[in-house]
Amino acid sequence: MRTAKKGSILIFDDHYTLDEFACEKWKEIGEGAMRERGVFTAAVSGGTSPVGFYRRLAASGKEINRQSTHIFFADERFVSKKNRESNYRMVKENLLDRAGFPSRNVHAVSIEKTSALSAVKYERSVKIFFKIKKGGFPKFDLIMLGLGADGHTASLFPGNKTLQERKRLVVSVSDSAVKTERITLTLPVLLNARNIIFIVKGGEKAGVVKEVLRSKRSFLPAAMVKRSRGNIYFLLGRAVFSVPKKKKISIDK
Ligand code: 6PG
Repeated sequence: MRTAKKGSILIFDDHYTLDEFACEKWKEIGEGAMRERGVFTAAVSGGTSPVGFYRRLAASGKEINRQSTHIFFADERFVSKKNRESNYRMVKENLLDRAGFPSRNVHAVSIEKTSALSAVKYERSVKIFFKIKKGGFPKFDLIMLGLGADGHTASLFPGNKTLQERKRLVVSVSDSAVKTERITLTLPVLLNARNIIFIVKGGEKAGVVKEVLRSKRSFLPAAMVKRSRGNIYFLLGRAVFSVPKKKKISIDK
């Protein structure tokens, strides 16, 4: 397996190889977490880019320890779990139903009467699981993120007031960029993760990827996440970043 150190940008000729690399990283990070702490905590995202990765991961055999892996959600749409927009539904269909993670290890956002209530409830469940004391933040072993063409990641949108949040772990979001309200982990939680993997596919993101990776002062949400002290990997499809060959480049934090 190719190794990638803290702060790597990897460009892949095809999505199959990208997804395969993401699976290897998941396994490596998971094994390390289980060795050190006995448990592996990962938060996953919605969108279309991670679908191939989820399917490949689900097809992995015994090398993935399902019993000690706990799966959370980086963000969710405020819709019923059966709705086609639901991230839970997408992850369930492509990963959970196929992989056999015990249901008690899947920590979905429960959809309450309002998105604000859903955020409070999800935050409480995260705090209980991670045994968070007042003012503390969870340390996820891995957060899988995507990137929107406007620079959003999870459900943190450019210029949205939720980006200013410094105390809460989870907030509800409404933004003109999206029709449905969202529930998202906050920036301090993302920045506190041990590892972050961005999976970015789609040529329409070329411009924003350039800004996110190159600018040290950008206030685009994904660029803000890039300042994380943890390990961060940008796995980019060829169309996103046109350089002649698969390459490893370092990130300007
Ligand atoms: C969601 C996300 C969101 C996503 C980006 C990229 O629920 O939609 O978590 O942040 O990762 O919008 O989406 P694509 O992979 O579909 O481009």
